[in-house]
Amino acid sequence: MKRVRLSFADINIEFVDREIALRQIMELAERGTYPVYIVYGPEGCGKTAFFKQAKTILEEEFGYNIVYVNPLARRLEEVIGYSSSLKDIVVEILKVFSEPYSKIVDVAIGIVGEVLRRLKRTRLAILMDDIFQAVGLDKAEVYTKMLLNLIEYPPGEYERIVVLVSSSEGITRERIGRHRWATFRIMWNMSREGFKQLYEQIPGEKPQFEEIWRITGGNPAALEQLYRYSWRFDRTIDDIAMRKNLRIFISSLSSTELEILKDILREPDVIIERLRESETQKLRMKLIELNLIVELWDRDPWLWIDVPPPEKDSELGIGKHFAWQTPLHREAVRRALER
Ligand SMILES: Nc1ncnc2c1ncn2[C@@H]1O[C@H](COP(=O)(O)OP(=O)(O)OP(=O)(O)O)[C@@H](O)[C@H]1O
Ligand SMILES: [Mg+2]
Repeated sequence: MKRVRLSFADINIEFVDREIALRQIMELAERGTYPVYIVYGPEGCGKTAFFKQAKTILEEEFGYNIVYVNPLARRLEEVIGYSSSLKDIVVEILKVFSEPYSKIVDVAIGIVGEVLRRLKRTRLAILMDDIFQAVGLDKAEVYTKMLLNLIEYPPGEYERIVVLVSSSEGITRERIGRHRWATFRIMWNMSREGFKQLYEQIPGEKPQFEEIWRITGGNPAALEQLYRYSWRFDRTIDDIAMRKNLRIFISSLSSTELEILKDILREPDVIIERLRESETQKLRMKLIELNLIVELWDRDPWLWIDVPPPEKDSELGIGKHFAWQTPLHREAVRRALER
């Protein structure tokens, strides 16, 4: 299988590992998706990389026409991607919008509608990477419903359709999960072996793999940032604290919430043990909203894209029901508490 090339800080690397996830994509390619599939995962766990690899598989191995958007892409040319066969339709629809890049999700939905109208019995894959932040979380439901409508009431007949949406927003599930419009799959950070392959592609002197594993928990974006910061852990931790404004978050907590938070630092499953207390309920929501912890349900493989995290790993902050997104996130909170 062709592996895509990706940019990782200032280097060009090859997509590695995720064998099970790729097999899952092939299965979806064989039967299509129903309803919309939402791939939820910690920040930087590798969703965009996975979507890029999925795009290649669907297009080159299964003959799908692709419409791909990533409104938050770093480079403008990565905001929208499509199969060359769709070029005329894309150009036409782009012209309809006065500022297409600011409404790229609507543009993509417009393109999909037109493709279904004009191409008979096509295979179409719609890959929407991290769109909820762009359209606004309050509209996540509406957009998911629009995508479901394209599957259920297409403007023209199709052979097969695949609709994948990624999200790193913890509250996506709270918003969308209660509807029948979407089904959720969680993607975790990389497995130890996969992460090692990524680590080995990084040139130059670097800390021992063990140390990097312990501090990142296999999160590829954390690895990328550590490499950018010349392996200075403190800077990466400060960066999380600043982005999430942890000082203000900590200052806003009551003394009971602070006490519970200290327990969660030791053991994330404290959340479920103390969930009867209203302070724990509030804290749970805040930690999910800030994308610091993730709720894991169970480890049944069908709920997961690729492999689930281990049943428990206290060193990495992974419990049975809840986990810190990465040990770096946990450390950032710990330090903010101590300040
Ligand atoms: N399987 C992989 N093989 C090689 N590189 C990877 C892999 N997964 C992720 N990466 C690299 O790790 C970095 C972070 O991954 P990526 O941007 O895909 O994460 P993400 O989950 O989309 O992050 P965000 O939540 O910020 O959108 C990127 O540089 C990406 O190219
Ligand atoms: Mg991404």
